[in-house]
Amino acid sequence: MNITTISYLRNRKKRQQKFASLTVYDATFASLCEQHGISVMLVGDSLGMTIQGHDSTLPVTLDHMIYHTRCVRRGATKSWLLADLPFMCYATLSQAYESAAELMRAGANMVKLEGGFWITKTVRCLTERAVPVCCHLGLTPQFVNIFGGYKIQGRDKDSADRLLADAVALERAGAQMLVLECVPVALAECVTRTLAIPVIGIGAGAVTDGQILVMQDVLGITGDRAPSFARNFLVDCEDIPNAISLYVQEVEAGKFPTEQHSFY
Ligand code: KIV
Repeated sequence: MNITTISYLRNRKKRQQKFASLTVYDATFASLCEQHGISVMLVGDSLGMTIQGHDSTLPVTLDHMIYHTRCVRRGATKSWLLADLPFMCYATLSQAYESAAELMRAGANMVKLEGGFWITKTVRCLTERAVPVCCHLGLTPQFVNIFGGYKIQGRDKDSADRLLADAVALERAGAQMLVLECVPVALAECVTRTLAIPVIGIGAGAVTDGQILVMQDVLGITGDRAPSFARNFLVDCEDIPNAISLYVQEVEAGKFPTEQHSFY
């Protein structure tokens, strides 16, 4: 396996070759994922829920993210590694610089930030200082208390138009990747077509350039907290390596997600 770069991922988009990505929090799973076709991994602040047992991502600190990013980088040396900037660690420009630098030193290739046009200045400043940025739009979990729960976003025309305008503004500011979470398929398709940068969907239909899921959902170990857009791949396989391979195959072939895992 070659080292994965942002130009490789951009070329995949141009060639319409879909790619699969997973959240990973430790070295064992990172290594397993790299061996089974996952070349883009996210150390997500979802670890606040999956690893720490909280009911949101808000309690996750920068130190937690640094620790898990180091663990994942030791297990996956060739993958493109994204790390989340956690809640309130990029509220000011200087906070964003310090936090992003720590995650990059820990082994991340790119940092992920939640938010729309209001973070364009942060995106531009980070990019100018050699930090690749992925933005996250739609259901941004750090905004759970503003949204009043984990709800699908961009359902009406006004909010869909706003989301598309935010995506364009973020790309212009220098964002090199976008995660789109829990939005209707038509909106995801429009954003994916409009942007030149790779768009990774979660609960956004099969129309995006890449897919991402939370590892625990793919393995069916989230219990009754599993979201409707996720699929348990382990149930159709003998073991975890085969479940990861099946997920990769289904995403690359455009077979996952199906209509059942999408919003309209
Ligand atoms: O934190 C996370 O795991 C994420 C994914 C759900 C995209 O942001």
